[in-house]
Amino acid sequence: MTTIRDVAKEAGLSTGTISKVLSAPNTVSQKSLLRAQAAIKKLNYKPNMLAQKFRSKQSKTIVVMVPDIANLFFAQVISGIEQVAQKSGYSVLLGDTKDSTERELEFVRMVETRLADGIINLRPYAQDDTSLPKEGVIAVNSASCENTPYTSVRIDNADAAKTVINYLISLGHRRIGVISGLKKNPHSIDRMRGYKLALQQANIEFDPSIIVEGDFNFWSGLNASEQFTRMQNPPTALFCMNDEMAIGAMKGFINKGYRIPEDMSITGFDNIEACRYFTPTLTTVAQPAESMGRKSAEALLRLIDGDTSVQNEFILPYEFIIRESTTAINQ
Ligand code: RIB
Repeated sequence: MTTIRDVAKEAGLSTGTISKVLSAPNTVSQKSLLRAQAAIKKLNYKPNMLAQKFRSKQSKTIVVMVPDIANLFFAQVISGIEQVAQKSGYSVLLGDTKDSTERELEFVRMVETRLADGIINLRPYAQDDTSLPKEGVIAVNSASCENTPYTSVRIDNADAAKTVINYLISLGHRRIGVISGLKKNPHSIDRMRGYKLALQQANIEFDPSIIVEGDFNFWSGLNASEQFTRMQNPPTALFCMNDEMAIGAMKGFINKGYRIPEDMSITGFDNIEACRYFTPTLTTVAQPAESMGRKSAEALLRLIDGDTSVQNEFILPYEFIIRESTTAINQ
C-alpha cells in the first residue's frame, strides 16, 4: 500500500509538506502543491484522513447553522463559506436548524465535544433566544444584527431600509406599507427601525394598519398581498423585508389584476437571482451574501488558529438596486 513516505519521495518533498498539502493546501507554495498533487495522482495515494485529524488534534470540520436552508440568500452565504473552507482544507457540515435553539444546541455540542472546530451561525442574534455565545465554543455570526456579543458579519440593515424608504418618498409615495419578517426576528427589528426613521424625517405619520407580518417565505408575501388588496385605504408602495416575500406579493397582486409598479410599487431585500428574472424585475437592497460568507469563514479560521486580533464586528457595504418594480406615484 502506498504510504505518505512514498509520495514524499516521488515528489521530492518532506512528509510534513505532503501532510500540509492534505490538511491545509493554502499553506504551501504553488510549486510544492503541484508536485505533491502529481505524485499523489501517479501513486494513486489514498490518505487516511481520520489518522491525520487525530494527529493534528483538529477535526478540520466547521459547522454552519442555517435557519432555513431553502432561503436563497442563505445559499449564497454558504457558497462564500464553502469557498474559504475548501481552500483551507476544512469540511463544512450543514445544519438546517429551522430557527430552533434546541436544534442549534445539538450542533454547538459538536464543537464542545471536538467533533467540529468551530461554528458559523446564520441566524441573527436575539438575546432572549440564542445558543451562542458559549464559553469554549469558537463561533462567528454570518448574517447578524446590531449588538451581537460575538464575532459577527452584517450590513447596516436599518440604514439600508431607510435608503429604500427615502427612495420611495422621493417618487412621491407617502403611504408606504410593509411586509415584515417575523416581528421578533432581529433583522425585522433593525429594518423596521430604518423604515420608521425615514418616515419620521419626512414627517409621515407611522400607521400600524399597513404593516403585515410575514415569515420571509414566498407564500407569506403572497398571503400578505391579499390582505392589502382588501384594505379600504391601501398603500401605494410596499417595502418587503426580503425578496422572496416581495416576489410572492407581486404574484399575488398580479393575480388580482394589479399592475406593478403602476398600481403598487414594490421593493425587496437581499438581491437573490430571481429578482432579475421575474416580470417586473425587482428593486431591492443587495446584501453582499457571498462576501459575508467568505468574511465569516476567514474570521472563524483565524479564531480557530488562535488569532486574538480578529475584530468583533465586520459591517459590509450594501447596494441599492433600482429596477422595474417601482415608479413615481400616479404614473
Ligand atoms: O431570515 C431571512 C432573511 O434574513 C433573509 O432573507 C435575509 O434578508 C436575512 O437577512
